[in-house]
Amino acid sequence: MCGIVATVGSSQATRILLDGLHRLEYRGYDSAGLAVIGPDGLQLHRKVGRVQELAGDVPEDLPGSIGIAHTRWATHGEVTEDNAHPHLDSSGRIAVVHNGIIENMAPLKARLEAEGVVFRSQTDSEVLVHLIGRIYRDPESPACGDPLAAMRSALRLVRGTWGIAVLFADHPGAIFTARNGSPLVVGLGDGQSYLASDPQALVPYTRRVVFLEDGDVARIDADGVQTTRMDGGAVDSAIETLDDTWGEGDRGDYPHLMLKEIHEQPEALERCLSGRIVPEGGTAKLGGLDLDARELGRISRIGLIGCGTAYYACQVGAELIEKLARVPAKAEIASEFRHRNPVIDPDALFFAVSQSGETADTMGAIREIQLKGGRVMGVVNVVGSSIARACGHGVYIHSGPEMAVASTKAFSNMVAALAVFTLMLARQRTLSAHEGRRYVEQLRAVPDLVRRYLANPGPIDTLVEWVTDPRTRMVLFLGRGGSAPVAAEGALKLMEVAYVPCIAYPAGEMKHGPIALLERDAPVIVIAPRDELRDKTLSNLQECKARGARVAIIHSDGDAIARHADLSIPVPETNPLFSPLLTVLPLQLLAYRTGLALGRDIDRPRNLAKSVTVE
Ligand code: G6P
Repeated sequence: MCGIVATVGSSQATRILLDGLHRLEYRGYDSAGLAVIGPDGLQLHRKVGRVQELAGDVPEDLPGSIGIAHTRWATHGEVTEDNAHPHLDSSGRIAVVHNGIIENMAPLKARLEAEGVVFRSQTDSEVLVHLIGRIYRDPESPACGDPLAAMRSALRLVRGTWGIAVLFADHPGAIFTARNGSPLVVGLGDGQSYLASDPQALVPYTRRVVFLEDGDVARIDADGVQTTRMDGGAVDSAIETLDDTWGEGDRGDYPHLMLKEIHEQPEALERCLSGRIVPEGGTAKLGGLDLDARELGRISRIGLIGCGTAYYACQVGAELIEKLARVPAKAEIASEFRHRNPVIDPDALFFAVSQSGETADTMGAIREIQLKGGRVMGVVNVVGSSIARACGHGVYIHSGPEMAVASTKAFSNMVAALAVFTLMLARQRTLSAHEGRRYVEQLRAVPDLVRRYLANPGPIDTLVEWVTDPRTRMVLFLGRGGSAPVAAEGALKLMEVAYVPCIAYPAGEMKHGPIALLERDAPVIVIAPRDELRDKTLSNLQECKARGARVAIIHSDGDAIARHADLSIPVPETNPLFSPLLTVLPLQLLAYRTGLALGRDIDRPRNLAKSVTVE
């Protein structure tokens, strides 16, 4: 999280920096700042709030064709102007923007303070700029006056993660950068170079990029990038070309990105399935996995790892895999997995599931699996992202750019990609061609069913009234089997976008606790598609009604379960295994419309960020 943009060349820097920050704002939006080197030396502008606030503070014609900029998601230190990046060293001639966390901040800061350094912020990042500045100006140090050498020496003292961009007023023709655990990509233009946390900031300017690797320290000037390693050795970085999936990500005719992305789901799902289904064989193929029939047959178990919405997609995926392919499958929260010293079965296959491909906890889990000799593949949206590259093999979910902080179309495409994998695996193991063809047909029909539902979504506004009723203190979401993660995803969306307290429970577990919360007219949202668990779920919803709660049921169109609902929200029927792709839709719309009714900042909800690159 946090977004970094930098540029050097002949164009005016601030225009590019502000535009880049706008594009990266989804990475954090507590405060923003930039530094440029102009005729009057190093100029600093910082503002609490959105990039818009900063843009209002920076003179439009600010001279300077080299600069660095940052949009912040606070880790250390409150949201204040002093804590906004860039940070300056004591001389005021070196500026740093930082994404990541300095874990040994406390001892380093104490040491610097003992040496007389005065800190102006509470951030961990300020430690970095002072360390670099002191080494750079120390006549005793072999790194004196040498930006890259000073950065290497400073970074050797630091524990943690960083993506940094550094300006030295003494070197007005170059940006200096280093990466360890926080993504950075260099953009190569014509006499103009760029640096950013992700390619989204670069697409209007160039598609030729160099992804920096952990341990890289680089110098970027108008003509390109020279990359070295922490030991000073040179690196021959590969230049890659960004493909068309890196779009503009604007709102189009929609009032919000979230609504646009909800409505993009039919096309996004079609993209995900396209070219991967083999209708005649009743199977699927995923070339990116590079697994032959023998390898597929040997998989002993499958682990699916993710955070937030991706984790709930993992839970749906685990249900699909175990039910259809009969291979033990388990979803795990990345931040828990990586720290519990997991046993890695050499015949197991892991999937790291992530929209951004940058989530630090998921990256940590990948490292843990790889360290123990395990096999892990990515299920990722962002092409060329850190997770995609760390895994080497995997499946791109092809949602197209997802820019709203609350994930919608990426959830659906994660589930769809895992469904495609399940079909492929199941056909190698238990499923006949005849059965396979039936599943294939049903999966291919889903995008149209999604389209049909979105054209006529039912009484969502009544549900919004329940949720925003002043008597409502929390909303309970219930579901069983594959609908339990859908319930959890619905609760997550409503919390994220509308700040409404929610609880999601597997329906059968409700009587063991949350039932105590039920009051007269408390809203309970039950996800109950027509599947083998429907009748059990029906009993649980009766238990809620018996306690005075009002119950909305999201159910298969035409199902008599509607009779038991205070509010019935039908969705088109599909195979129960694929039902999460339909039942999640009303929940996405509920979150969106509730957020709207409550006047929330839909696309940039408070305290959240889309790409969480800290642990
Ligand atoms: C953040 C976002 C969520 C997202 C989660 C995992 O918390 O706000 O929307 O689901 O990270 O992100 P990933 O990019 O790994 O899917």
